[in-house]
Amino acid sequence: MTAAAPATPSVRSQPGSAQGRSRVAWLADFYASAIGKKAVMAVTGVILFGWIFMHMLGNLKLYLGAEHFNEYSKWLRTMGAPAVPHDVPLWIVRIVILVAVWLHIQAATQLTLMNRAARPIDYQERDFVAGTYAARTMRWGGVIIALFVLYHLAHLTWGLRVAPPSTFVPGDPYHNVVSGFLIWWVSAIYIVANIALGLHLHHGLWSMFNSLGLNHPKFNRGKRLFATAFALVIIIANVSFPIAVLVGLVR
Ligand code: HEM
Repeated sequence: MTAAAPATPSVRSQPGSAQGRSRVAWLADFYASAIGKKAVMAVTGVILFGWIFMHMLGNLKLYLGAEHFNEYSKWLRTMGAPAVPHDVPLWIVRIVILVAVWLHIQAATQLTLMNRAARPIDYQERDFVAGTYAARTMRWGGVIIALFVLYHLAHLTWGLRVAPPSTFVPGDPYHNVVSGFLIWWVSAIYIVANIALGLHLHHGLWSMFNSLGLNHPKFNRGKRLFATAFALVIIIANVSFPIAVLVGLVR
């Protein structure tokens, strides 16, 4: 950065100082660069992976029965009470996730546009080698996941009639999940979306490790193992829920 050094140490701590402005300018420059966008994708990706993992762990309570599952759902709304008002921690989590999703999609879109601008080759001439193929799969995976989350919220959070003839009972998520998954095509939507999610997580983790500088071939085995294990755990657990309902294991 080219900003002049502050004249005195006290100037350094003032928000409107040249140093303060240069820090903001540095952040803006960093975010404008491809490496900055990859860093944003990695950080927001970790937040989203973490949340998906915690959500999956919570959903395992489906196997313990209605009482446990509904109790857990109630706890999500009341955690921190009475020290903090109802729903406040949940809303903080929701806002963090929303911001992370927004930044993740924004950085991904801008990276794609930057790549296209840097390689203005005709579609017919393009060589769809592994990197390009993976990037396209990631984009379509991202679109499928975004559409799924909207459907999922409409189905299990907002209680809209998107899974007829199943019924939605406010405050009884166990009933809502089971009644929805009994409809084969609703289960099929969840199964396809969660497989797409697993593939997205797999490649996303791999790319994230590379963005963080773990590029040496000696890390490849560990990276592949971690990405595969994480993706498989999410796919197997999340796909097991609709299947367990369809075969009558969870009723
Ligand atoms: C088969 C797998 C899944 C099941 C059984 C499931 C179940 C549920 C249920 C029951 C709720 C409502 C909880 C309540 O209102 O108390 C919920 C909320 C939610 N789920 Fe899932 N879920 C699954 C997969 C996913 C996936 C893969 C994602 C994201 C990629 C996701 C994202 C969400 C979100 C964002 C909410 C709203 C949370 C909130 O702010 O209240 N779910 N899920």
